[in-house]
Amino acid sequence: MAKTAVKKITTHTLQKMKSTGEKISMLTAYDFSFAKLIDQAGIDVILVGDSASNVMAGHETTLPITLDQMIYHAASVIRGVNRSLVVVDLPFGYYQSNSDIALASAVRIMKESGAHSIKLEGGEEVLKSIKKIVTAGIPVMGHLGLTPQSIYKFGTYTVRAKEEAEADKLRRDAKLLEEAGCFAIVLEKIPAKLAKEVSKSISIPTIGIGAGKYCDGQVLVMHDMLGINTEFKPRFLRQYLNIAEQATAAVQHYIKDVKAKDFPNDTEQY
Ligand code: KIV
Repeated sequence: MAKTAVKKITTHTLQKMKSTGEKISMLTAYDFSFAKLIDQAGIDVILVGDSASNVMAGHETTLPITLDQMIYHAASVIRGVNRSLVVVDLPFGYYQSNSDIALASAVRIMKESGAHSIKLEGGEEVLKSIKKIVTAGIPVMGHLGLTPQSIYKFGTYTVRAKEEAEADKLRRDAKLLEEAGCFAIVLEKIPAKLAKEVSKSISIPTIGIGAGKYCDGQVLVMHDMLGINTEFKPRFLRQYLNIAEQATAAVQHYIKDVKAKDFPNDTEQY
């Protein structure tokens, strides 16, 4: 289907937004229908997050999702998107071992899904991979702070970088990612004061999740903010809808109508 011409969001648009002070809005999506809905609603950036592992596949962590599965989700999202910039997570195990593997994984995502950019977690440890991917012409978004692919190292999903040593590493990593050519950095679950300092100290946009109001943009997992997943209620989450409640009521209403022989009625049949 032909897509109507609109002014598309690019990495340059995000850079401009940082310089003019316009906040960047970002949400996750994993399928065609929701991607189309949030793109048409005007979201700036759509993240095909490896949180698909949690909210789509029901895993406890982001670790199990595969590159093929991420490509399937990303290709579905791309078919629904006309305007937003689409970022796709490199999943756990497809970039950490060496930079050639990292580039090959990023190339597969770009080629097979049609996505516009990739995201990966970590600082200095993955710098070589970031440089290689950027050199190949693929825009890279970084991700610092609480990096869920390292959950078994952290042992808990609590706020990161509260101690000075970890905060210092994060400051250094943010600079390194900027120098390596990242176009933006996600800051997840770190103190607002540190996120403010980092956002001021680098020229590329920061996108916060649980990192306070001074980031250049904000991201939430769509299933959390729409209340599809209601079991996850961290302090940073603002829930805008309760789809779980409304959908449950609708399904119960449907069951009642079927049982009562009220559905379908005369006008709902051929
Ligand atoms: O996978 C994801 O949804 C993410 C966000 C939490 C930033 O990485």
